[in-house]
Amino acid sequence: MTAKLVDGVAVAAKIRSELKERASRLTAAGEQPGLAVIMVGNNAASAVYVRNKIRACHEVGIRSSRFDFPADVDPAEVLTRIQALNADPAVHGILVQLPLPPHFPIPLLLQAISAEKDVDGFHLYNVGGLVIGDTVFPPCTPYGVVKLLEHEGVEIEGKNVVVVGASNIVGKPMALMLMQREATVCICHAKTRDLAQFTILADILVVAAGKPNLIVPQMVKTGAVVIDVGINRLPDGKLVGDVDFAGVSQKASLITPVPGGVGPMTITMLLANTIGSAERRLAGANRSAA
Ligand code: GUN
Repeated sequence: MTAKLVDGVAVAAKIRSELKERASRLTAAGEQPGLAVIMVGNNAASAVYVRNKIRACHEVGIRSSRFDFPADVDPAEVLTRIQALNADPAVHGILVQLPLPPHFPIPLLLQAISAEKDVDGFHLYNVGGLVIGDTVFPPCTPYGVVKLLEHEGVEIEGKNVVVVGASNIVGKPMALMLMQREATVCICHAKTRDLAQFTILADILVVAAGKPNLIVPQMVKTGAVVIDVGINRLPDGKLVGDVDFAGVSQKASLITPVPGGVGPMTITMLLANTIGSAERRLAGANRSAA
């Protein structure tokens, strides 16, 4: 079997063109969507992500603002900035780019972001919404994966899903979102013994472990849908996922490449969450004016 390739760039472009229309309707109604991005320190990968987020905002008509702090900043200063952004009506979304320097109290900062502006979906309120299946801001990467599966017409209900990686940003919310869609979900992580005994059962395998070549063909069921969320830079500079792409694409029915699979969807869903937030604000303002 040779897998069909999922073109994340094309799906993202289609969604972004719809978002651009929604943003322009909001702007015409006096509610241009606005995103504020906070970056602490100079992690090279984060700098690239933040630059791409700001550029993507510009392309769809979201006003963006960026706040850079040195790695040794007092967290209280960042907290003060978050509070100001919470109160700013021109801002509909706030995100703090992760990771943060080691001395930073990450939960304290994430909980300081107003739940109505938490476009990353990392605030406990939104995490709780995810658990009970009433999500306001689905976390961007797993949300992007769900959109890709929907776009490809992959049925989720009743399927065996194995998620490899249990991070707060990808693995855990991914598992919850697929469970909400009535899949049977198993989460594997760094301490899982004999990973292959689980992955081989997967109709849909989502891998977000940050380890190149973690998943090899013997670990994959013939015909499985394989979603590779990993982004790893090899010593020769090549960008690869967590899946042995050449080998596994001979066994899977559908596979996402790296780059060009899940990656372009993450920022797209951040834009979608920001625009959704602005639409809710406008709807709320119209209701109170009525
Ligand atoms: N770092 C890696 N992924 C993400 C993400 O989705 N949001 C934020 N804020 N930081 C990240």
